[in-house]
Amino acid sequence: MSAETERDALCFFVNGKKVTEEHADPETMLLPFLRQKMRLTGTKYGCGGGGCGACTVMVSRYQPATKTIIHYSANACLLPLCQLHGAAITTVEGVGSTKTRLHPVQERIAKAHGSQCGFCTPGMVMSMYALLRNKPQPTMEDLTQALAGNLCRCTGYRPIVDGYRTFCQEGNCCQANGDGKCCLNGNEETDEHEQEKPRLFGKEEFLPLDPTQELIFPPELILMAEKAKPQTLTFHGERMRWVSPASLEELVQLKTRHPEAPLVMGNTNIGPDIKFKGVLHPLIISPTRVVELFAVSQTPEGVWVGAGCSLSELHSLLEKLVPQFPEEKTELFRALEQQLGNLGSQQIRNVASLGGHIVSAYPNSDLNPVLAAGSCKVSVISSGGRREVLINQDFFVGFGKTILRPEEIVASVFIPFTRKGEFVRALRQAARKEVSFPTVTSGMRVLFSEGSRAVQDVSLYFGGVGPTTVRASKTCAAIISRPWDDETLSRAYDVLLDELTLPPSAPGGKVEFRRSLTLSLLFKFNLEVLHKLKEMNLITEELPEKMLPLPKEIQPSLQEFHPVPKDQSEQDPVGRPIMHRSAFSQATGEAVYCDDIPRTDGELFLVLVTSSRAHAKITELDVRDALQLPGVVDVIMAKDIPGKKVRSMFGYDEELLAEDEVSCVGQMLCAVVADTKAHAKRGAAAVKISYEDLPDPIFTIEEAVEKSSFFLPHRTFEKGNVTEAFKNIDKVYEGEIRMGGQEHFYMETHSMLVVPVGEEKEFNVYISTQWPTLIQDVIAETLNIPSNRITTHVKRVGGAFGGKVMKTSILASITSVAAWKTGRAVRCVLERGEDMLITGGRHPLLAKYKVGFMNDGRIMAADMQFYVNAGNTVDESVLVTEKILLHVDNAYKIPNLRGLASACRTNLPSNTAFRGFGVPQTLLVVESMVNDVAMALGRPADEVAPQSSSCLYKTIYIKLCLTSSLIVQIREVNMYRGPSVTHYKFEFSPENLLRCWEECKIKSDYSSRRQAIAQFNQQNRWKKRGISMVPIKYGIAFSEGFLNQAAALVHIYKDGSVLVSHGGAELGQGIHTKMQQVASRELHVPSSKIYISETSTSSVPNTCPSAASFGTDANGMAVKNACETLYQRLEPIRKKSPKGSWESWVRDAFFEKISLSATGFHRGPDLYMDWDKMEGQPYAYFTFGVCCSEVELDVLTGDYRTVRTDLVVDIGKSVNPCVDIGQIEGAFMQGLGLYTLEELKFSPSGFLYTRGPSQYKIPALCDVPLRFNVCLLPDADNPHAIYSSKGIGEPVLALGTSVFLAIKDAVAAARSESGLVGTFRLDSPATPERACLACTSPFTQKIPASEPGSFRPWALNI
Ligand SMILES: Cc1cc2nc3c(=O)[nH]c(=O)nc-3n(C[C@H](O)[C@H](O)[C@H](O)COP(=O)(O)OP(=O)(O)OC[C@H]3O[C@@H](n4cnc5c(N)ncnc54)[C@H](O)[C@@H]3O)c2cc1C
Ligand code: FES
Ligand code: FES
Repeated sequence: MSAETERDALCFFVNGKKVTEEHADPETMLLPFLRQKMRLTGTKYGCGGGGCGACTVMVSRYQPATKTIIHYSANACLLPLCQLHGAAITTVEGVGSTKTRLHPVQERIAKAHGSQCGFCTPGMVMSMYALLRNKPQPTMEDLTQALAGNLCRCTGYRPIVDGYRTFCQEGNCCQANGDGKCCLNGNEETDEHEQEKPRLFGKEEFLPLDPTQELIFPPELILMAEKAKPQTLTFHGERMRWVSPASLEELVQLKTRHPEAPLVMGNTNIGPDIKFKGVLHPLIISPTRVVELFAVSQTPEGVWVGAGCSLSELHSLLEKLVPQFPEEKTELFRALEQQLGNLGSQQIRNVASLGGHIVSAYPNSDLNPVLAAGSCKVSVISSGGRREVLINQDFFVGFGKTILRPEEIVASVFIPFTRKGEFVRALRQAARKEVSFPTVTSGMRVLFSEGSRAVQDVSLYFGGVGPTTVRASKTCAAIISRPWDDETLSRAYDVLLDELTLPPSAPGGKVEFRRSLTLSLLFKFNLEVLHKLKEMNLITEELPEKMLPLPKEIQPSLQEFHPVPKDQSEQDPVGRPIMHRSAFSQATGEAVYCDDIPRTDGELFLVLVTSSRAHAKITELDVRDALQLPGVVDVIMAKDIPGKKVRSMFGYDEELLAEDEVSCVGQMLCAVVADTKAHAKRGAAAVKISYEDLPDPIFTIEEAVEKSSFFLPHRTFEKGNVTEAFKNIDKVYEGEIRMGGQEHFYMETHSMLVVPVGEEKEFNVYISTQWPTLIQDVIAETLNIPSNRITTHVKRVGGAFGGKVMKTSILASITSVAAWKTGRAVRCVLERGEDMLITGGRHPLLAKYKVGFMNDGRIMAADMQFYVNAGNTVDESVLVTEKILLHVDNAYKIPNLRGLASACRTNLPSNTAFRGFGVPQTLLVVESMVNDVAMALGRPADEVAPQSSSCLYKTIYIKLCLTSSLIVQIREVNMYRGPSVTHYKFEFSPENLLRCWEECKIKSDYSSRRQAIAQFNQQNRWKKRGISMVPIKYGIAFSEGFLNQAAALVHIYKDGSVLVSHGGAELGQGIHTKMQQVASRELHVPSSKIYISETSTSSVPNTCPSAASFGTDANGMAVKNACETLYQRLEPIRKKSPKGSWESWVRDAFFEKISLSATGFHRGPDLYMDWDKMEGQPYAYFTFGVCCSEVELDVLTGDYRTVRTDLVVDIGKSVNPCVDIGQIEGAFMQGLGLYTLEELKFSPSGFLYTRGPSQYKIPALCDVPLRFNVCLLPDADNPHAIYSSKGIGEPVLALGTSVFLAIKDAVAAARSESGLVGTFRLDSPATPERACLACTSPFTQKIPASEPGSFRPWALNI
């Protein structure tokens, strides 16, 4: 056995290769080791906290006891390197490669179009690969579980599921594998026409899965595990020591000597604490090799499970045990099993240990309430011996604290069998259905006296309602010894309400919701118990419906598009569903993103120091300590900037680095550059800043309006005469709606590398941006050098969505100053938390409207005011307000229309462009207003004659259904028809909008589903369905006309290969794939001859941003132009030898001294908007679309599921249907997130709480509509864009409104149960919290509302 002070060599395998680390640092996680040390950059960093899955790898271990090899997926960002001794790691590079052989798991995600920006793809591949290694024919349930913890911000998940569904046993429904139609949609035609429908992919092309081809487990590791004498392993780093004992005895000794040292098992609690809270543990004890901690034994009373068992192992164990015993004995097992299925992701459950979970004592732990309710106990061991401790109300003594002594080790956990007449349930509610800590969670157990409904014992535990797991003891006392009936339960709700209180400013907020959830979870338990009692014939009364879980099976869906003309050449790829050109590289991890570029000699890393105050004077910025730290090279401050220190927009200056004053938390103050990221981070933490707070920071829109804090100009317009019109109308309705902001959450955080060339102030900038030219311009200004010294290179961007333009340019300027000052290459890659804190997102909005309408539903006048929260700098906020006003008509002809839009200046981080650029905000307001018109036109509740309550409900309900149909009619009555003119006097034809509307009505089967929903809602008290159909008319191109231009450069080399460069950046939107298609058509060569290497300012200068859904329109024309020139130049050669080949023509042209290089240019439309005259031509044309969504809502928890979405979109003639459908689905899902899920939370002092995927929930696989159909409108045309196509990147995002309004529809149905009809306010996002409270159930009504102003809320309503 080696002494504690000795250092051991760490030995493990990566992709079949042995790795021996003589100096393994306990602070190093596997992710940076793979990326930096092994140059295996396929494994990506997305969050660093186990919340996104981008870093998924497969871990394999040999288990000597069973002589088996286990494989499991894990997050490399939380896997300590030192824990890998004896393990074999497989990364995406080890699975397959384009150089050797693609693995089917890589091939299928690529060919099914499941990779757009590709940043999430390696993680997806690895999660699926690990699943297939364990189960080569998984079920759909296995698949959705395996991918639940892998976030993708681009695709909308549907193509990933469809690609991987082909591995599943039951994936053989008629449409399952992409054959374009589905029996599930009642669409069973098998005629020839149907057979000819094009498909996005064909599964017959797929490589078969051959498990015998997989990498074998290294025999050396088996030998090592079998033969090596167990010994303590010790590893030392700069600041930390890691000791891994080999026996329980040693573990006990170690823990006795070092009670303060944590035991690191899964590292899913300790890891994030070290990373995000800066906790430093000088010693870590790793007991993962102590076999006693993994033992499982059965007794007549239950089962002892080793505390070291992972939650997945516990899950499998319970799954195995449950069928072996009578049902009554396994109530607790099943409750735990269910809760385990919902806890974290597969990757987390595979490593997180049972003991670690219990001891972590999270206030909202999912397991602890059930373990406590089920009277489980732990067996703990220390130098004083063993003892058993019951997990009960006394066990949890504070936030993250248990009654156990620091030196005690949990050896195992006892989970008892249940008895006859005993029921156990675990119920939870979370912000997102999966991979989300619960908002409130519970474990509930009741034991009945034999053969009766009298309660012998009851135990109710809750999490999420205080600092610890709590027992509702008084409530239990109110139930015990009484019959389980209405009277007892009604009393129990009242006692529970008094017992589990939360102060109005409780951390985590959602106070009313959380309190109501305790009641409704108890009610759900009650329902389950009653049904059980009825099954056992212990009660006879009629019961309300059984609460089944929301549906969750993702079904095959339809993607309809249209074949290319029969006479189109086979070689011409335009209009065909061509796979993203980098999809294979992305799926193998070979695709190079900015931070994958190898380190250059002497390279430095830059970490920013940001303000912790919202509005303050900087009194001191002391960097002396930072400069003393190891590795720190310099600190860059405003005074170091040689050129322009500010960026100016609309006459407002934004400082690159604040000098005297800060105006938001997160504002950049200085930047530390050091030899490594770790050193730069420590340097940044050592910078001392003193502030003097300035009075009255402004955070909310209301505060800004009250104090007239705006970025000018305000934008206004008026069409018709609104004031006059309001005098002559039947009804007026006034409403208000608030909409939250949105974080871009591109999977690749801001990344850049600035490399000084070394002479004449030349710099190469590798960066993840949408606008390379802007980066070049601002660096030139900042360094005070000409633009010709700076070359910006963009290979690809891991998602951008509008967020990689403005803030990127500021970050690039700062990084370039560091590179200029130090003369060394400087890399800056933001961590997820920094990115979210610093870079802003979509503008939150407050809108007020007054609408006047006739009794027949015609809207005659609307007066609307929009206020966006711009944050502390102007950025693009004024342009966003303009776009808001340009879209206030959406699809409706409103004769008198007035609008005002203002950008509020506040002390929050500045907001910026985000896909849709204001339109998603407008659409929600306009469509909510139209909804209100319909609801207001319904008869108010008090007009209904008094009747018995159930009869009253029916009457109200029928009226409500009529209102729902009315909503569609109102939209139809008001839609543009015939030759039309917008409020800014732009002429257009709405014909295709109306066609989309009619098609969508038919395809979604709206009318009969409306009726089915009515029936469902009448039959279900606690679940409601809702449906909504929403249109959009979306203007394409930049209204700042000068931005509508693009250039391209095309080279033909002597071997006939073609290199295309153009101004668009590849963000995952497939622009390079489309440009390749354009060049292929124009040059009449196969796509395989064409290559696009990068977007570079030295190839194509003065580019415009890849934004406004205009990339293909502009760059496509430029590429076309260049290719036409070249093709014409080759014409004489072709004529001379018509039988020659492309290669021979190119060669001949070279010998005839014909230039084989050409530029192309597109001068786009001269668009403008004259705000003084309130008229203009701000768009080239409109893209139209209609979306119908249906949801099912759990009234008791506000949880919902989109059961079906049908989209019909007019994009003219698609250049590439799979890319365009990908944009449609991805944008829709981003909209669904915006309107129903994603919530930014700021503290009362302006600090962003939500700085990672644990706190900020973007849609995951569990949010995909169960049926998700997309149809591209047939026979559509567009004379204004390349090959009659239309821009589609942004428009569909706003159609997420259909889900919001479907939820509102379901809420209306729930409200009618309480006798509430008519309009009501629902703000966005319609989170479970908002939906549940709006339902106004008997439980939410019990919660006393705290008086506004009487307390300081935990979070701001910005
Ligand atoms: C992304 C993510 C999502 C999550 N989602 C959920 C969720 O939805 N619901 C939920 O309830 N939880 C969730 N968790 C929490 C997770 O369940 C716990 O972090 C995990 O169970 C802790 O176990 P571990 O082995 O990783 O603990 P570690 O981080 O290794 O250790 C945690 C603590 O336990 C102590 N400890 C470990 N083992 C023992 C032992 N045998 N005896 C004494 N002390 C011990 C350590 O000293 C340390 O203080 C999530 C975590 C992450 C990172
Ligand atoms: S980077 Fe590891 S889970 Fe996000
Ligand atoms: S393709 Fe999934 S994040 Fe971009």
